[in-house]
Amino acid sequence: MTAARPTIGIIGAGKLGVVLAQLALAARYEVRIAGSGSPHAIGLSMRVLAPGAQTMTTIDVASSSDIVILALPLRNYQHLPVDALADKLVIDAMNYWWEVDGENPALSDPASSTSELVQEHLHK
Ligand SMILES: NC(=O)c1ccc[n+]([C@@H]2O[C@H](COP(=O)([O-])OP(=O)(O)OC[C@H]3O[C@@H](n4cnc5c(N)ncnc54)[C@H](OP(=O)(O)O)[C@@H]3O)[C@@H](O)[C@H]2O)c1
Repeated sequence: MTAARPTIGIIGAGKLGVVLAQLALAARYEVRIAGSGSPHAIGLSMRVLAPGAQTMTTIDVASSSDIVILALPLRNYQHLPVDALADKLVIDAMNYWWEVDGENPALSDPASSTSELVQEHLHK
């Protein structure tokens, strides 16, 4: 008997999120994906770019997936649904990119990584 494969949730349906969805689908994982708004807003692009990925709200992706990959702009990490992610395996694929995130000393402090900030936020 083989174990059920984990479902993969992706928060962020942009350049990185789409490529991750394509790779996970090609590897035969069940994929759920969300952008910042309604699932309908990304429905057409996901049907074209990552057919088979289920579009959902962010909170539904977080609560219904076994593994959740963070692929949203880092500046928005404090909007993540902390409670829904509480018992999930979360993979942070975000980077600080000042052109997108703006000048932010908290995110560019070499004393700590941005993934540590995200982890701290999720453990609140
Ligand atoms: N592009 C790369 O090659 C690459 C490689 C490695 C890492 N990264 C990192 O991955 C992250 C995303 O980069 P990207 O290039 O994919 O950005 P992007 O193309 O701008 O896509 C960002 C996605 O995140 C969504 N989003 C924004 N705020 C959100 C929120 N609060 N909740 C849920 N979804 C939200 C956006 O939805 P809306 O469109 O609805 O706003 C959009 O779908 C960044 O931290 C970047 O540094 C990127």
